[in-house]
Amino acid sequence: MQAIEGYSVLVTGGGSGLGRGVAEYMATRGARVTITGRREEKLAEAASAIGPNCATAAGDVTVEADRQRMINTAVRHGGGLHGLVNSAGNMLRGPITELAAEDILDVMNTNVVAGMRLTGLAVPHLKKSGGAVVFVGSVHTRRAFPGASPYAASKGAVEVLAQVLAAELGPKGIRVNCLLPGAVPTELNVRAGVADSFDDNAARLESMAEDHPLGRIGTPQEIAEAVDHLLRAEWTTGASVIVDGGLSLGVSYK
Ligand SMILES: NC(=O)c1ccc[n+]([C@@H]2O[C@H](COP(=O)([O-])OP(=O)(O)OC[C@H]3O[C@@H](n4cnc5c(N)ncnc54)[C@H](OP(=O)(O)O)[C@@H]3O)[C@@H](O)[C@H]2O)c1
Repeated sequence: MQAIEGYSVLVTGGGSGLGRGVAEYMATRGARVTITGRREEKLAEAASAIGPNCATAAGDVTVEADRQRMINTAVRHGGGLHGLVNSAGNMLRGPITELAAEDILDVMNTNVVAGMRLTGLAVPHLKKSGGAVVFVGSVHTRRAFPGASPYAASKGAVEVLAQVLAAELGPKGIRVNCLLPGAVPTELNVRAGVADSFDDNAARLESMAEDHPLGRIGTPQEIAEAVDHLLRAEWTTGASVIVDGGLSLGVSYK
């Protein structure tokens, strides 16, 4: 495993939810973490809670100049770049008969294209450090949720991307993996209008507890533990790692 002390990592979407969980987990163990997002107040609040190992780079992952600035900030803050976590993402739900092309493209741009471009920009730095990229996929590519086709399509794309990029970048000494989280209460569904509030969304997810062999939904820290492993494990590449309490097994106890 690469050492965590002095490990420099850029976490997109690190101002909230799973990205914030990764930032907190790694920074408190000695990594130099840079978090990004469009809402400066969320970033400032997270950085102040996490402490001096955490820097911020506000911006939009769909804007090329912002992406370059995010990479530059992480390289400056961390004295180089070892890891990139593409966690920024949005949910889009709707019946296929009603989805607008521009909304589908917007989700693809944020969830897929942004991570591809950030990976491209990170390559010169990751080549120097023997670094790694983690794309955040989803259990939506293992269980079908009707009405969530654009989101599932975007997550299918990042999973296959991680495999092709693992093959493409392996000879440069760069590893690429995909982490597939299950149900964890965050702002994702609230921001998408699927739930009215964080608590409403958490209750919605908790109602799925019985579909999990482990009997419960997950926490940001449980996702962070796996992301940290995928970033620093030196012989792991092209892997799709499911961390979902067993939800994707599709077990029926009825
Ligand atoms: N929670 C789950 O159960 C779950 C399960 C499977 C996969 N995931 C995936 O996990 C990742 C993180 O989601 P989350 O659950 O942690 O939800 P979240 O708290 O809403 O985090 C998503 C983050 O992405 C940022 N973001 C969205 N669009 C952006 C843009 N254009 N530019 C910059 N930042 C942007 C948001 O910040 P701003 O709005 O401030 O920009 C937000 O901080 C997503 O890829 C999601 O698909 C989540």
